[in-house]
Amino acid sequence: MLHRERHCPDKEGEILRCLVPKPVGYKKPFSWPRSRGEAWFSNVPFKTLTESKKQQNWVRLVGDRLVFPGGGTSFQKGVKGYVEILKKIVPLQSGAIRTVLDTGCGVASFGDALIDYNIITMSIAPRDIHEAQVQFALERGLPAMLGVLGTYRLPYPSRSFDMAHCSRCLIPWTEYDGLYLMEIDRLLRPGGYWVLSGPPINWKAKFTAPDGTTKDPKKELTRLEYLASRLCWRKIKAKGPIAVWQKPNNHIDCIQKKNDLKSPKFCVENDDHDDGWYRNMEACITPLPQVEHAEDVSGGVLENWPKRLSMIPPRIMLTHDIKPKDFLEDALMWKKRTSTYGHVLKSLSSGGYRNIMDMNAGLGGFAASLSKYPVWVMNVVPHDATNRTLGIIYERGLIGTYMNWCEPFSTYPRSYDLIHADNVFSLYMNKCDVINIFIEMYRILRPKGTIIIVDHVDIVVKVKSHTDQMRWHTKVSDTEDGPFGPRKLLFIDI
Ligand SMILES: C[S@@+](CC[C@H](N)C(=O)[O-])C[C@H]1O[C@@H](n2cnc3c(N)ncnc32)[C@H](O)[C@@H]1O
Repeated sequence: MLHRERHCPDKEGEILRCLVPKPVGYKKPFSWPRSRGEAWFSNVPFKTLTESKKQQNWVRLVGDRLVFPGGGTSFQKGVKGYVEILKKIVPLQSGAIRTVLDTGCGVASFGDALIDYNIITMSIAPRDIHEAQVQFALERGLPAMLGVLGTYRLPYPSRSFDMAHCSRCLIPWTEYDGLYLMEIDRLLRPGGYWVLSGPPINWKAKFTAPDGTTKDPKKELTRLEYLASRLCWRKIKAKGPIAVWQKPNNHIDCIQKKNDLKSPKFCVENDDHDDGWYRNMEACITPLPQVEHAEDVSGGVLENWPKRLSMIPPRIMLTHDIKPKDFLEDALMWKKRTSTYGHVLKSLSSGGYRNIMDMNAGLGGFAASLSKYPVWVMNVVPHDATNRTLGIIYERGLIGTYMNWCEPFSTYPRSYDLIHADNVFSLYMNKCDVINIFIEMYRILRPKGTIIIVDHVDIVVKVKSHTDQMRWHTKVSDTEDGPFGPRKLLFIDI
């Protein structure tokens, strides 16, 4: 699957320096929540899935619109009924499950259905034969990005997701010494759930897999059960097409199994388990933070959503660089800051934005301050930021990814309505040509989208000279610190 991973040009001359034009006939996307079910075909003019997945009801072409009836390979009759079954196995309504990873998401109908439970899903799939699937998901206003379980770790920290899901996602879980399931184990928080549907669950007969090989589901299920038990997971239940396992709250019992030669080894204790930027996956169990008692939760207990958005994330207690006081001050600062965002606030209130990108998300304060609006935020933490805060962001019940802004983001053109760049240019000014960053921002932004740049006044002046070159409409304004504050806001409407 290396061929489906991110690939960036190595040489300067190979980088495209042009603005990606919108397709002919592009129209403003439907606003949320209508966009969940409908999109303009002219905005994402790709027909393959409307034909190849017609029976499975992923997406239909009706006149000039793409219609998403909520079907999928494992839920042809609709994802709502599928989630009803799942609800009987895991506590979807309790607030205990907030962050979900859907591997092999199709058009993200599973993630869409979970929104009704206040659950936010990072839906990922590669750019493969399922033409434009992730682009459809984003056009619907659903959180999604390109991603594949192939060679590298996924770009998220350890212990991030409360639940991971795969419905016939074609990932060979038991191959390569269980490498891919061990990556899911790294990403699940203690006590997190793994949901699998499709073969080999509840699959009676032998069948032919997409690679043409014949599979024996009974044998495959036995291998899977064995692998899950070696990861110290507990099978909770299998009901209809769905089976669910749960990761332990800590590794006290699992460490005792260590002497059993058949158990996979633990990864090196002092490795950086949160590193998810071009790090090869390893077939080992990511050790959980140590605890004293068998009933303790490694890394600390999280409150249920929505309380966990504002509680001090337990990871802060484990880091030396950020103190609880810093977290509380940051939250206060964001309340003041967002109130200075003028016309952006008006658009937020009137439903003008849905998909929002925070290019340097820090502790997730910007996203947290937007929680009352019907938007979702991709919280990006640059892999080279001074503090790698993505784990804290996930503990707050928000989602995001690592990134290097000298490279393109794993997304399609025109996928975000609003891009927020706080201290991004001071971080990258001397790392790569900032014009390339602007070109990438333009690619990601939807037509008529907005960019907010916040930086030291010297940087804002430099940035403005570039944006003037791009012939963008800009307006400089004060932050919460007023006219004498050292930092300025630059609003760009494209
Ligand atoms: C048959 S479709 C199922 C889609 C969706 N889960 C559903 O039930 O409708 C298989 C999905 O798995 C994705 N996929 C295949 N191999 C993958 C891999 N190694 N990592 C992540 N996704 C993968 C495909 O791109 C596609 O989205």
